Amino acid sequence: MDLSSAECEDFFRNTAVPEHFAETSSDISQFVTKHNEVGRKIVLVTSGGTTVPLESRTVRYIDNFSVGTRGSVSAEEFLKRGYAVIFLHRLRSLEPFSRHLGNVIDMFTITPDGQVSVKSEYTCVVASCVTQYESVKKNGTLLRVTFTSVHEYLHLLRVCSQCLQVMGSKVMLYLAAAVSDFHIPASQMPEHKIQSSDGDLTLTLQLVPKMLKPLVKNWLPQAFIVSFKLETDSHLLIEKSRKALLAYKHQLVVANLLDKRKTEVVLVTMTTEQPIVLLPDEQAAGKEIEEKIVCELTKYHSEFCENSV
Ligand code: PMT
Repeated sequence: MDLSSAECEDFFRNTAVPEHFAETSSDISQFVTKHNEVGRKIVLVTSGGTTVPLESRTVRYIDNFSVGTRGSVSAEEFLKRGYAVIFLHRLRSLEPFSRHLGNVIDMFTITPDGQVSVKSEYTCVVASCVTQYESVKKNGTLLRVTFTSVHEYLHLLRVCSQCLQVMGSKVMLYLAAAVSDFHIPASQMPEHKIQSSDGDLTLTLQLVPKMLKPLVKNWLPQAFIVSFKLETDSHLLIEKSRKALLAYKHQLVVANLLDKRKTEVVLVTMTTEQPIVLLPDEQAAGKEIEEKIVCELTKYHSEFCENSV
């Protein structure tokens, strides 16, 4: 076991498992078995930001900007292309289908005879979302799993990976969540609310062990693994994506800049760089860049599966 694997094991040993962990693990395992039996590919989509609690009975936490657009749109696109989707997402972040509904209370009205009805201007969008959602529910192709903290996220990522091992190359990991790099280890976290009467607060955060390493090497060595690289400086983006590929030895990095993430990304492999751009007229027509990203990734994944047999 190399140093980083040992660090990861320590992390899991010293961090409490999320609530209802046994039930969630069993749901994931049943979902995987069901789709594996019929030969359906599965993608694990991670989505939204993780929190870093400052107290174990958490009142305050550190958060990040991610709202789960990338993950929720991509989950819909994978479902359209026949994948079963485990959607591991931040509680109350955007979800597939319901993300289109915005401020739901604005969509309803009460008719003169006291019935609740959808306002005419919203019927198309509601009908489309409900139709797609019902079809996915009928087929049982979407499993939603929630996290809030980085600790919960990593426990759930590991159990998903363990359950997905049986899938071999027919599983894709699409790691779009914005995962905190720093945390306060459980052993150093105060139990109760930090008191402002104690004066200024100085925090020391420790590095969260990078889970991509054991993920690729030990948890899912046969899977097609896509990580994301987010930067704000364009000069660093491709170089850091390649560095990640070299360090973790997975298949592909989706490189994106914070400001341009909705219109431009680059799919980076060890030997190629494929820019994906959402053109202004596509944007005006309501197309989203995730449609193009997922379309390309499913081709890479098919080729990967063919080469793995
Ligand atoms: O949700 P949106 O608002 O639509 O925003 C989408 C997004 C910008 C968050 C998304 O496109 C994105 O870039 N997500 C990844 C951001 C990120 O965490 O990058 P990173 O450089 O910190 O991490 C790189 C990879 O390492 C990630 O795939 C992550 O899963 C992994 N990681 C991170 C921390 C950690 N302790 N262990 C890890 O394995």
